[in-house]
Amino acid sequence: MTTVEPAARTGALVDGFGRVATDLRVSLTDRCNLRCTYCMPEEGLDWLPKPDLLTDEEIVRLVDIAVTRLGVTEVRFTGGEPLMRRGFVGIVEQVAALEPRPKLSVTTNGLGLVKLAAPLKAAGLDRVNVSLDTLDPERFRTLTRRDRHHDVVAGMAAAADAGLTPVKVNAVLMRGVNDDEAPALLAWCLERGYELRFIEQMPLDAQHGWSRDKMVTAEEILRDLAAAFRLEPEGSDARGSAPAERWLVDGGPGRVGVIGTVTRPFCGACDRTRLTADGQIRNCLFAREESDLRAALRGGAADEEIADRWRAAMATKKAGAGIDDPTFLQPVRPMSAIGG
Ligand code: 5AD
Ligand code: SF4
Repeated sequence: MTTVEPAARTGALVDGFGRVATDLRVSLTDRCNLRCTYCMPEEGLDWLPKPDLLTDEEIVRLVDIAVTRLGVTEVRFTGGEPLMRRGFVGIVEQVAALEPRPKLSVTTNGLGLVKLAAPLKAAGLDRVNVSLDTLDPERFRTLTRRDRHHDVVAGMAAAADAGLTPVKVNAVLMRGVNDDEAPALLAWCLERGYELRFIEQMPLDAQHGWSRDKMVTAEEILRDLAAAFRLEPEGSDARGSAPAERWLVDGGPGRVGVIGTVTRPFCGACDRTRLTADGQIRNCLFAREESDLRAALRGGAADEEIADRWRAAMATKKAGAGIDDPTFLQPVRPMSAIGG
């Protein structure tokens, strides 16, 4: 981390444990064109009403406040499925024009990338994270309830062609569904120069169907990978605030990440702040409280007043989420309405 000047520190998003949030996740919509079983029910959810959603202008204004007043240096767009938001390319373009220019990435299911990779790159997007849990189209259909495996794979290739690199891939393994695929997924990604990260399944599904024993743990994933590849840890220093524990594969340059959100929490190094599609700040994915910036925004608050509310929202961030703790309570909103 770079040293922060005392003057800038009063401006930054600091919590009671001294963590500084510089990475902003912006959810652009709670809707999605897939129905991953670990995320949403078949019929979808009660989507946020349109008037509650921030407009494109409101989003850009809040990101502007974050980068100019609050020290945010990285902006990641999430959903739901962020590529479903009509004004997305325009939002990227305006955010890329902010000073200082933040790093810009998107977490997507990949479906829109064939069409949007090139325009997004031209608008100033730097990178993409694409979710892909299986190499088998039939399993993909079971898992996401849509027959779109081919489109995701084509979307990843389009992103690489457009220079949205390195293409990162997120995979969630589920017992009895795709838990045999870790080595194959890694080989497939290495071949294409994609950087794969496995994420432990978290209790964030709308149906509240998560259970600890169904979760495939980081340890199991690493054991399966180690049977097929030579893995060398990148060193504990390299972890920094990134949630992935990264491993060099077969001497490199290929790498793999394993994000043990549940079994190996990294809350102590968290540098994130989250903005939902309806204008609420969450200081943690698992927070049970939110701070309403939309009301302030629409009530005519000045930039510095909004910045102050944002600082206050982050100041009360808890030390950790404690997902593995028996007293853990799942947040009211599902992941798709928070942003991944
Ligand atoms: N646990 C872990 N990862 C999840 N994702 C969505 N829901 C969950 C969950 N309950 C992943 C998606 C995508 C990213 C946004 O988060 O697969 O890669
Ligand atoms: Fe959509 Fe992502 Fe949820 Fe799957 S996990 S339904 S792609 S929001």
